[in-house]
Amino acid sequence: MSFLDVDNVSKHFGSLIAVDGVSMKVEKGECRAVIGPNGAGKTTFFNLITGMLPLTTGRVALDGQDLAGIDPSQRVKMGMARTFQITEIFPEMTVRENIRIPVEVQAGLHMSTRMPAHLRGPLNERVDQLIEEGGLTRIANRYAGELSHGDQRACEIMMALALNPRILLLDEPTAGMGDDETYAVARLIKRIHRESHMTIVLVEHDMRVVFNLADKITVLAEGRPLAEGTPAEITANEKVQSAYLGGEA
Ligand SMILES: Nc1ncnc2c1ncn2[C@@H]1O[C@H](COP(=O)(O)OP(=O)(O)OP(=O)(O)O)[C@@H](O)[C@H]1O
Ligand SMILES: [Mg+2]
Repeated sequence: MSFLDVDNVSKHFGSLIAVDGVSMKVEKGECRAVIGPNGAGKTTFFNLITGMLPLTTGRVALDGQDLAGIDPSQRVKMGMARTFQITEIFPEMTVRENIRIPVEVQAGLHMSTRMPAHLRGPLNERVDQLIEEGGLTRIANRYAGELSHGDQRACEIMMALALNPRILLLDEPTAGMGDDETYAVARLIKRIHRESHMTIVLVEHDMRVVFNLADKITVLAEGRPLAEGTPAEITANEKVQSAYLGGEA
C-alpha cells in the first residue's frame, strides 16, 4: 500500500462536480506535483485529502489508515501538514513568534499555557533551528506582514514543518511571485525534500518549478484525472499538451 492512497474521490457542490473520481498513490519520500488549469479542482482535491471538506465519494488513507471521520486537526497530529494558496501567517507577529506557535503546539502546549521552565531551552533551540533551515535568520525579528511573498511563504512552510509532519501538502507555494522569489521558494522545497526525505504533494502553476521538483505529476482537468507520469512522460503527453501545457505557452 502507498503512503498516501487517494482512491476515487469526488466532491460535488450542488450540481457542480469539482472533483470527479480522482485516484492518486504517493509513495514515501516522493515529491508529487498536481497540476491543471484554473478551476480544475486542485485546491478542492487538497481539501478532500486534508479533511477540510467531506468527501462525496471515495476514500483517503495515510500509511494504511483510513482517514474517514478524522477531522483536519487530528490529521495534523497524524502527520499531515499543509500550506494554503493564500499564505496563512500572523502578519502582526514576527517570523520568530509565528514559528514559535506550531513548535509549542507540537510540544503539547496551548498558547495560553505557561511555559514550563524545563521546556524553554529545547523549544527555543527548535525555533532557532527552523529559522535557520528556512533561511529566515536575517528576518527572524521582522513582522511577517512586512515581508516579501517569498519570505512569507518560507515562514509558512517552516511553520508547517514545525509540526514534524510525515507528509507536506503545498497549495501553489510560488503563487504571485516573481522569478527570484519563485526560485528561492523552489530551492527551499527541494532542500526539504532532499535532506529530510519528506513526502511532498504540491499544486503548482509554474512549470519550471514542477519539472525541477516533482518525481511524478498528476494532471487534473475539469475535476477529472487527465494523466499521471514522470515529468518527461507528462511533457510528451498529447492530451496534456492540448488541455494545459499548450494553453500556457
Ligand atoms: N466551496 C465551494 N463551493 C462551491 N463551489 C466551489 C467551492 N470550492 C470550489 N468550488 C468550485 O469548484 C471548482 C474547482 O475549484 P478549485 O478551487 O478546487 O480549483 P483549482 O484547480 O484550485 O483552481 P486555481 O488554479 O484557480 O486555484 C471551481 O469551479 C470552483 O468554483
Ligand atoms: Mg487552487
